[in-house]
Formats: sequence, C-alpha cells, structure tokens
Amino acid sequence: MAATSFPISPAPAAYPGLPLPDIYARVSRHVPAIEWPALAEDVAAILELKKTRNAVILAHNYQAPEIFHTVADIVGDSLALAREAVTVDADVIVLAGVHFMAETAKLLNPGKTVLIPDMRAGCSLADSITAADVRGLREKYPGVPIVTYVNTSAAVKAESDLCCTSGNAVDVVRSLNAPRVLMIPDEFLAQNVQALVPEVEILTWAGHCEVHEQFTPADIHAVRESYPGVTVIAHPECPPDVVAESDFSGSTAMMMNFVTEKRPRQVVLVTECSMGDNIAAANPDIEFIKPCNLCPHMKRMSLKNIRHALETLTHEVTVEPELADRARLAVERMLAVRPR
Ligand code: 13P
Ligand code: SF4
Repeated sequence: MAATSFPISPAPAAYPGLPLPDIYARVSRHVPAIEWPALAEDVAAILELKKTRNAVILAHNYQAPEIFHTVADIVGDSLALAREAVTVDADVIVLAGVHFMAETAKLLNPGKTVLIPDMRAGCSLADSITAADVRGLREKYPGVPIVTYVNTSAAVKAESDLCCTSGNAVDVVRSLNAPRVLMIPDEFLAQNVQALVPEVEILTWAGHCEVHEQFTPADIHAVRESYPGVTVIAHPECPPDVVAESDFSGSTAMMMNFVTEKRPRQVVLVTECSMGDNIAAANPDIEFIKPCNLCPHMKRMSLKNIRHALETLTHEVTVEPELADRARLAVERMLAVRPR
C-alpha cells in the first residue's frame, strides 16, 4: 500500500466545495488519517458558521494544530492577539485561548460579541492575584508604577498603570523611565526582565505559570547531553536558571520567528507542546525534541466546542463598563509603547 494514500473524506454533503484535503495536508503530521473524517465535519461546519455569523477566530500559538492550522483566522502571541483584536472587522470574535485573552479582546472591542468556547480556560498567573492585592501594593509602594502582565483579570488590569506581555515587557519597563517598577504577578518574568534592565529595580509578586515553573536546569542539561548541538529556546515564564541555560528566550511569537529564521536542525522549545507541533507542521525539516509541557487551560479548546460556541453564541465574555474603561486604558497604554 502506498504510504501516502490517506483516506481523506470528501467535504460533508452539507458543505460541498470546501478544500478539505488541502486543509488536512496542513495537519497530516499530527492528525492520524483515521481521525480526520470526524474532525473534518467540525472544520467544515466552523468554516460555514464563521460566514453566517460574520465571525473571526483568534487563536493563541498554544492551540493544537487542528485548530491553529485549519479554522483560525488570526494566530499569534498575546501581544499580537491584542493588537489584531483592535483591527478585527466582524460581529463576533471567538477566542481560542484562555479567559484573560478573551477579556482583553472584549476590552478592545466593547461593541462586539466575544466568545470563549469553555469558560473554565483560566490561567494560574491570572489566579495568583486580585484587584485588592494590587491596591495593597499601591499603598505599600506609593509612586512606584505598576506594570501588570496581560495574564490577569480585567479587575487587576483596572488597578494597574499599564500592561505588558512577554513580547514587550522590556520595552514597557524602559518606557517608564522610573528607578523602580512593580512588575506583577509573574515573578519569573520579572526576574528575567530584571536581568535585561539592570538600571531599574524591579519588584514583583509570587505568581507562577504552572506549565513553565516545572522546567529545571537539569532538563536542559539532560537534553544537551543527549542531543549535542541542539538549540534550546525558553519562554520567559520559565525560572531564570532555566532561561540562563537556554540559547534564546522570548514570547511565543519570538520563539516561532527565531526557529523559522535560524532554522536549527534540532530544537527544544521549553514551553507548551503545541508550539513545536504548529511550527513542525509547516517546517518538516526541523526536529523538535522534548521536553515540553501541556497547558490544561489552553487544551480546553477543541473543534467541537468552537463549533458549539458559534452555533449557540456562547459563552459570551463581558466586562462591567466602568471597570472595562480603566482596564482598557492599561492595555491601550501598553499598545502605545514603541519597541526601542
Ligand atoms: P505569549 O504572550 O508569549 O504568547 O505567552 C502567553 C502565555 O500564556 C504563555 O504561557
Ligand atoms: Fe497561563 Fe501558563 Fe497556561 Fe500560559 S501556559 S495560559 S501562563 S497557565
């Protein structure tokens, strides 16, 4: 039997004319042929529903290949999703990611319907701090600007001076021209930024990403021993001793750009597992080595629940208007910071 003759299903009868075999080709390295007919049914329905609902799907780089490479209109890191959310021309935005990302999209699009397919898609960083905690910090450190990672609730953003993402944290801190800055709630991101901006004293909070905090320098040593010459790229939510052992560190989009530009033969992405899968789908010549970890929150998204979200217009993400106005200001101030 020819190894390449996959039993690709034709477009389901209700959705004729869709290029489903071409779509399957994008994910064939990650989706077994036997599973495709069931997924194709959902892909076809979603593509049709996007037209009838005038909807777009924004998907984070950690989404599984069958979402990232088939139904997503805009993919990227948190910064790109926030930037693109401002330009979206649609009535409905479906956020395939986690809740804080959907909230940010809603802040920037108060007149649009923003949906998240599963309301339980949270984030350990967002859960690590409350608005009352931020007010407490403001009292304890009067006059010190508060930079809040976007991985937080709108209520926390509303108490902050401005936001940052892992893609612009250094530029945001430098833009303040302040001797001391509070960078919350990701302790490791703050410590990694501190190493790059020694002229500013960065105070932080003890929040961690449950996915990235698990990596250790021993993981990196083990992989370097097994794969001499391997390129190691770590997300800045990793502990600083892990970042120190890596060849490059940056946001998920920066990691992707680094890999596709430098084209290392073997690479370890010290981050969520779908990153490697999504790059590998379009770059079969690059070998992605483990370790990687799954984010259980990101993995709550599926083609099934994206389809359901579009069919039923659930679950709508809303932010109370007065709070939204204050939180939006923090996000807009971040978007106005120019890279140096
Ligand atoms: P990025 O902004 O780098 O995409 O990261 C978001 C995130 O949640 C990483 O864990
Ligand atoms: Fe939050 Fe970590 Fe998951 Fe990113 S990977 S959404 S920071 S828990």
